[in-house]
Amino acid sequence: MPPRTRDLTDPDWWRSAVVYQVYPRSFADGNGDGIGDLAGLIERVPYLRRLGIDAVWLSPFYPSALADGGYDVDDPRDVDPRIGTLAQFDDLVAALHAEGIRIVVDIVPNHSGSGHAWFRAALAAAPGSRERARYVFRDGLGADGSQPPSDWVSHFGGSAWTRVPDPSSASGRRGQWYLHLFAPEQPDFDWSNPEVREEFHDILRFWADRGVDGFRVDVAHGLAKDLDEPLRSYPRISRDVVPDDGSDPLFDRDEVHEIFRGWRRVLNEYDPPRAAVAEAWAPPSRLPLYARADELGQAFEFDLVLEPWDAERFRSTIEGALERARVVGASSTWVLSNHDLVRHASRFGLPRGTDLSAWLLRDGAEPVEDRALGLARATAGTLLLLALPGSAYLYQGEELGLPEVADLPIAALADPVWERHGHTAKGRDGCRVPLPWTTGGPSFGFGAGGAHLPQPSWFADFAVEAQERDPGSTLAFYRAALATRAEVTIGEGVTFGEATGHVIEVIREGGWRSITTFGSPAPLPPGEVLITSAPIAEGILPADATAWIRDPALAR
Ligand code: GLC
Ligand code: CA
Repeated sequence: MPPRTRDLTDPDWWRSAVVYQVYPRSFADGNGDGIGDLAGLIERVPYLRRLGIDAVWLSPFYPSALADGGYDVDDPRDVDPRIGTLAQFDDLVAALHAEGIRIVVDIVPNHSGSGHAWFRAALAAAPGSRERARYVFRDGLGADGSQPPSDWVSHFGGSAWTRVPDPSSASGRRGQWYLHLFAPEQPDFDWSNPEVREEFHDILRFWADRGVDGFRVDVAHGLAKDLDEPLRSYPRISRDVVPDDGSDPLFDRDEVHEIFRGWRRVLNEYDPPRAAVAEAWAPPSRLPLYARADELGQAFEFDLVLEPWDAERFRSTIEGALERARVVGASSTWVLSNHDLVRHASRFGLPRGTDLSAWLLRDGAEPVEDRALGLARATAGTLLLLALPGSAYLYQGEELGLPEVADLPIAALADPVWERHGHTAKGRDGCRVPLPWTTGGPSFGFGAGGAHLPQPSWFADFAVEAQERDPGSTLAFYRAALATRAEVTIGEGVTFGEATGHVIEVIREGGWRSITTFGSPAPLPPGEVLITSAPIAEGILPADATAWIRDPALAR
């Protein structure tokens, strides 16, 4: 296997790429209105080049009412005017490609936004119409239809059904109900309708024609649903209870794979073929199905984000993920943070077993996070994952070691989770606070104006400007780690050293190994130290650290 390449014609780039997730509204604000935008992102392309990433994954930038951070897409073929224009999107693609950096865009096929032209037409049309058949409209239960069609609940809390006015009634009589597995502003498409399938093929082509290199597929496991009458009872939403035989009415059904085989045919119309990665919270045994070569190619491995900082748990999860990718000829994906999760620098600084949602409700006051410990583990974890075969997905701000903003004031919360859960969960805003670029200024250099979510004063300490001055900073570490990864041979072969309880040893082709300590120190094996996540002294790797070591003896 040749080393990873920035050659834009390489069809296999995604197998070992370092992909950096940009949540566009919070990355950089080019015009000072408090909302991150494409102009701000284009200005920061040199920053991304210096970081050493292979690709950007851009979270939704489409026109949206922002009922769910942009995952309520009102027009999947345009750019939100607050974020930019299609011409600027083309400029972004050109600017990234000029640096050998690829671009992956988010595609949201389970639902649209409620402002989408199709949904507005569906509301205006009669029950049984072609317009309504693109979504999931049903009559209510009970004599007057006042009960939802089933007991299904929304992922964000409350019923998954919302009733609409009857369009034929001037007096506002109430009519049918529509399905939304997420917020009411996110009506679900009916994927048994060929018109929906054609539409998404067309959307894929729209962006692939503009030079997009890949797609991150939102809620990939949710598209196929058992909508046969009578609707089955399903009063919960949880990955834990999705059976591993495809029999669930809403998630991970077998029919979903035929949809993605159709997508693969579209993606393969391009040279090189466009890449794709599934966001599928499916049972682990069924995850590889989404990653098959004739489907999306990759599926996010989320198991590690649920794991505590524990050598045995990390090791078995990593081995499981590698095996799942292997059986279908895919490559694994490594994730510790994204826009839906408490940042991993904070997770690893909290006592094992902390209920993160309850912690956020207490504004992070109790238990108090140990930031130094959290950061040590976070960087050790990242360096471990970068040592593995497969691709690594980084989330903006983790290269600064940014902790979660746990004490966002209630009035600032934008995540629908807060309202829909009846004020019992704060939601995901704490990892979406605009990035600090400078140590001062109205929004720490995010833009010339404010920030759409309030930044705490301690963001100054994490600013890019401060870290660029400090060779011992987290940013300097990430840059060095990505540069080292690009230098060492990254094939797909890997073996693990003997399990010792608190150490994970990864042995790679090309004569190097990675050692990670969990909770207590360990002696360093012989060889040339390529990079460490923490200072080493007298041949000892401290607790909660990772080192990469070249050892010619391994190559023999
Ligand atoms: C995915 C996204 C999340 C969004 C949801 C609904 O899980 O990552 O942010 O809320 O889908 O689109
Ligand atoms: Ca802006």
